Amino acid sequence: MLIVITGAAGLVGTLVRPLLRRPGRVVRLTDIAPIESLGAGEEFRQASVTDLEAMTAAFTGADLVIHLGGHSAERPWEQILETNIQGGYVVLEAAHRAGVRRVLLGSSLHATGYVAARDAAATPVLQPRPDTYYGVGKVALEALGSVYADRHGMTVVSARICTVGETIGTGGRTLSTWVSPGDLARLMETVAELDQPGHHLIWAVSDNTRSWFSLEAGKAIGFHPLDDAENHVGPDTDVREDPAALLAGVFVDDTHPLGGTW
Ligand SMILES: NC(=O)c1ccc[n+]([C@@H]2O[C@H](COP(=O)([O-])OP(=O)(O)OC[C@H]3O[C@@H](n4cnc5c(N)ncnc54)[C@H](O)[C@@H]3O)[C@@H](O)[C@H]2O)c1
Repeated sequence: MLIVITGAAGLVGTLVRPLLRRPGRVVRLTDIAPIESLGAGEEFRQASVTDLEAMTAAFTGADLVIHLGGHSAERPWEQILETNIQGGYVVLEAAHRAGVRRVLLGSSLHATGYVAARDAAATPVLQPRPDTYYGVGKVALEALGSVYADRHGMTVVSARICTVGETIGTGGRTLSTWVSPGDLARLMETVAELDQPGHHLIWAVSDNTRSWFSLEAGKAIGFHPLDDAENHVGPDTDVREDPAALLAGVFVDDTHPLGGTW
C-alpha cells in the first residue's frame, strides 16, 4: 500500500508518521519544507501543493492521499486563495489525474467556528459558518472534495480536525476539542480501507467525555475514536467550562483580526 501525505513536515504529519508505519507499506511524504530524517518505509519529495505536475507525479500509484499542506492559521486573503484554495484544487485534480481513489482532506472546525459550542453536537454535520479566511478556505476545500467525489466517483473524506496535540496541554476547551495522534492515525487507517464513493464530511475529534461534537458521521464510515481527554486530566488541568463558548475559540477575539497573519 502507498499512502501520500502533503504538508507532512507539520505538526500533524510529524505526530502520525510513526503510527502509520507497517511492513510492506510505503508512506510518501511531501512538503515545501525539507524533511531530513526518514523512517522505515518513508520517502520524501519536496514540492508545493500548488504544483500540479509535481503533485500528479507524487500521487501516482497511491492508494490514499492525505492532504494536510498549506497555511494552518489565518493569513491575508491572497495567501489563503493561492495556497489553501488553489492548493486544494491542485491536490484533488492531481489525485484524479493519477487515478487515486481515496482522498482524506484536512479541514478544520474553523469552517464552522461561529457555531455556539453548546449547539454543535445536535447536528452531525454542521452547515459552514467560517470564522476567518482560513475557515473559508476549508469550506472551499470541502466543496472541492464534494465535486471531485461526485464527478469522478472518488471516495473523499473531509475531516474537520479539532485540536491536535500529543497531550491535552493546560486543558480548558481542549477537554472538549482534543484529537489524539492515535485517533488521527485511526482515521487515516479507516480511510485507507474505505470503499464508499462520495463525499463524507466528519469530525476528527477524540471520544471526549466533554465533547462538543457528534461522532455519528465518522462512525458511519467506520471511524471509531478511542481516546478521551478526560483520562489525561491532572491536578493542574484547567477544568472550567465556558457556557458562551464558540467553536472558534480565540480565532475571533480582538487579538485575531480577519485577514491578519497569526
Ligand atoms: N493542528 C491542529 O490542531 C489542526 C486543527 C484543525 C485543522 N488542522 C489542519 O490540518 C493540517 C495540518 O495541520 P498542522 O497543525 O500540521 O499544520 P502545520 O502548519 O504544522 O503544517 C502545515 C505544513 O504545510 C506545509 N505547507 C505550507 N505551504 C505549503 C505548500 N504550498 N505546499 C506544500 N506544503 C506546504 C508547511 O511547510 C507545513 O509543514 C492543516 O491543513 C491544518 O489546517 C490542524
